[in-house]
Amino acid sequence: MIQTPITPMPETLVRILFVGDVVGPLGLTTVESTLPRLRDDHAVDFCVANGENSFDSGVGLDEAGAARLLAAGVDVITTGNHAYDAPGADALLGSDAPIVRPDNLPHDGPGRAGVVVERHGVRLGVVNVIGAREGQAPISACDGAEHEVQRIAELADIVLVDVHGSWPAEKLALAWMLDGRVSAVLGTHTHVPTADDRILPGGTAYVTDAGMTGASDDALIGFEPQDIVGNERVGQPTLPRPVTTGDGVLMAMLVTVGLDGRSTAIERVTARAKARSVRAGARERPAAAIFDCDGLLVDSAASWRAAYERVLQRRGRSLDDELLAQLNGASVTSAATALEVPAAALHDALEEAFETDPVPTPMPGAHALLASLFGRLPIAVATNAPAELATLALRRAGLDRYLDAVVSADGGPGKPAPDVYIAACARLGVAPSHAVALEDSPVGAAAAQAAGLRLIYIPSAPGDDVDADLEARRLDDAAVRDELLGACELFARSVDYASTP
Ligand SMILES: [Fe+2]
Ligand SMILES: [Fe+2]
Repeated sequence: MIQTPITPMPETLVRILFVGDVVGPLGLTTVESTLPRLRDDHAVDFCVANGENSFDSGVGLDEAGAARLLAAGVDVITTGNHAYDAPGADALLGSDAPIVRPDNLPHDGPGRAGVVVERHGVRLGVVNVIGAREGQAPISACDGAEHEVQRIAELADIVLVDVHGSWPAEKLALAWMLDGRVSAVLGTHTHVPTADDRILPGGTAYVTDAGMTGASDDALIGFEPQDIVGNERVGQPTLPRPVTTGDGVLMAMLVTVGLDGRSTAIERVTARAKARSVRAGARERPAAAIFDCDGLLVDSAASWRAAYERVLQRRGRSLDDELLAQLNGASVTSAATALEVPAAALHDALEEAFETDPVPTPMPGAHALLASLFGRLPIAVATNAPAELATLALRRAGLDRYLDAVVSADGGPGKPAPDVYIAACARLGVAPSHAVALEDSPVGAAAAQAAGLRLIYIPSAPGDDVDADLEARRLDDAAVRDELLGACELFARSVDYASTP
């Protein structure tokens, strides 16, 4: 039998997903719900999205929207006629963030029209240009793109141009002008997907409009239909409001490029994020997450048990299981009372235990959950344990880096009294009704609910009956993350999307 040596295929193709105008909050949530899977399923190397409609009003791009797009897996954000229309746009476009503005806008605000990002040794350059017929550009897309395309082409292996305009012939003219010089000229702005995707003779991928990302039901280009209709009627100007409920749709083009810069394929990708049946009075995304420490974030049961045993042993007594069970979630003061020992003695024994006995370890999923919340939601710990002990345990478990505050009930009434939760909310500057508590014991759960927080309950001991807003088995359950980041109000937990080439 002849053995053919197998030579690994060199990775010579780069796949770029180009997402059409992201409209309003539903557009952002749709990107967050679908993009991670799309990136995996289509082996996407780079994702570029037009974000100029992603602000709450459907007009402009703000820092929070940009951060969400980048966190969801967008590598470069392009804009258009609304580049400067959201609050803080000058600072955002003037920052180092991978965001581009059309080169030929008359607005001489900060920002750049071209940016280069690199992955796996491949440099993708993205250039943004706007159509002259948008009423803003003093020069056409063709004249406007020339300089920046030349500059970026010298810095990048692959160049993609987002031409943001409404006149198809102008976009086509730009593509033919750049054919063979850039890998793709892809259109945005109309929000209406076109069926003219093709590869031009020189290897440039083209589509007149990629479409939009946002509301798919009862919406007109992502906005309330009656608002857009009003705008088209004489004397009835209306400020269009983006549709924020119902299913979300993501419209994109997937471009495959060889390392010689020539595109070999362009296809349309459509992803749908299904709305869950909306509960009456759907909530806002929470403003803060407040975690219990022992038994919830940190497995410190062994340390506490060692301290109880030590303090009793010194008094010629021993710890029985029944007594131990009663101490779950107790403060130092109440545990000392139950053990009939001085609180100071128990405190010292605990300090000794945390320093010398088994290292407190993070509970399953604690790292993953805190890392996914970090930077997106203020995070505090509210604990019955003295602050220095909790801080020590959290540091030894490697979790302290994620926290904005550690608030202790020490010196005041401990859980089940609500005080420590109220203090933690005050420290983070949020109303208790806007915060979510995470607890593992009925004592802690009672404190959180008495303070008026929503409750996620992850029991450390079986059989405790707590009426929580959500009960989960582990911190990294998808339901916990959804509850905290808000996506679950709009979308099913496992996103159902259809992809049509
Ligand atoms: Fe748009
Ligand atoms: Fe636009």
